[in-house]
Amino acid sequence: MTTFGTPLSPHATKVMLLGSGELGKEVLIALQRLGVETIAVDRYDNAPGQQVAHHARTITMSDPAQLKALIEKEKPDLVVPEIEAIATGMLEELEALGVVRVIPTARAARLTMDREGIRRLAAETLALPTSPYVFCDSLEELQAAIDSKIGYPCVVKPVMSSSGKGQSKIALPKDVAPAWEHAMAGGRVSHGRVIVEGFVDFDYEITLLTVRALGADGQVETHFCEPIGHLQVSGDYVESWQPHPMRPAALERSREIARAVTGNLGAGLDGKPSGLGVFGVELFVKGDDVWFSEVSPRPHDTGMVTLCTQWQNEFELHARAILGLPVSTALKSPGASAVIYGGVDAAGIVFDGVADALSVPNTDIRLFGKPESFVRRRMGVALAFDADVEVARTRARLAASKVRPRVAG
Ligand SMILES: Nc1ncnc2c1ncn2[C@@H]1O[C@H](COP(=O)(O)OP(=O)(O)O)[C@@H](O)[C@H]1O
Ligand SMILES: [Mg+2]
Repeated sequence: MTTFGTPLSPHATKVMLLGSGELGKEVLIALQRLGVETIAVDRYDNAPGQQVAHHARTITMSDPAQLKALIEKEKPDLVVPEIEAIATGMLEELEALGVVRVIPTARAARLTMDREGIRRLAAETLALPTSPYVFCDSLEELQAAIDSKIGYPCVVKPVMSSSGKGQSKIALPKDVAPAWEHAMAGGRVSHGRVIVEGFVDFDYEITLLTVRALGADGQVETHFCEPIGHLQVSGDYVESWQPHPMRPAALERSREIARAVTGNLGAGLDGKPSGLGVFGVELFVKGDDVWFSEVSPRPHDTGMVTLCTQWQNEFELHARAILGLPVSTALKSPGASAVIYGGVDAAGIVFDGVADALSVPNTDIRLFGKPESFVRRRMGVALAFDADVEVARTRARLAASKVRPRVAG
């Protein structure tokens, strides 16, 4: 895209976000700053991104008919998935008909919609190193897979889930049945399929934000952000920092893997430049060995740290890349992020301690504005920068701890 229109006019450049949570909200803000007309779609009203977009639409995004009707009505230039649970088959149809461009591609959205498509692509098609794995449809199959191939310890996850939902680590045979039950209760769509993976005893894990953007010659170039280290508790991110120090060989290998997987996911059917945008490539590292874990074809939650560490944060990078604009992944300062959880189950909560949090030096916060809080729902994030990543981590944690969500009244 080289010509940009005026929002709310007949020649607007229009972008539709499918999913308008905290990550979508920041992408929408970045698009707004470029004068793009934005349509924020979510499954519930007043989602964070809907609060900052020109138009808010609430539909069931996994329903092909609803999705088709909305896209045909709004006629966006680009459709940008922010979540996995959408009718990706319909996106593929509309993309093939030339009705819309899907970011990065409709095929990438389909392959990353559940754990199976992307894992088989990475391990079986691209021969990238991953944990050993088996897909299972019953407790009996799960037990058999552990006994014959995977062993203990291992990790069980619903094929369709995110943020650690329904995921458990199995240390001993007695853990198998509870892990199966937990997966059945925690999956997003109850189709009863899980992946069991051998436990990778990594030294650390990173997210390698990888950006496919157009270069001056109109060809797609691949850019890498500095590696982001993160800490996961029960499969959910609680802290991240950037840069994570890495040995050169491990960084090189990580980039090779990220290039391979994003190159495949970004490839277009007709050979034209395609597959633009940010990808969050999750990797496990031990010494110089690197395993591919999973990839988001969009900004990544652990990448919220880039709100305070990069000249162009991951959301601005995504907005620029998908619009065909040049990008820079340069680091501004090392820094860290720490999640602010809801702590209570209630709607319309209030937050105490915000001024205390921001009195911690070199910090910032985001409160996402989610209408409803749950104890373990991510409601905000604290950010801190410092030349010393450890100082930044301590300050981000401190700032996050000072924000105290509570029931209003
Ligand atoms: N095979 C594994 N070995 C060791 N740790 C794992 C394995 N799979 C997942 N984990 C841990 O659980 C976290 C969440 O798993 P992930 O597959 O990324 O699920 P989600 O899609 O919910 O983010 C990972 O970031 C990692 O810390
Ligand atoms: Mg993950």
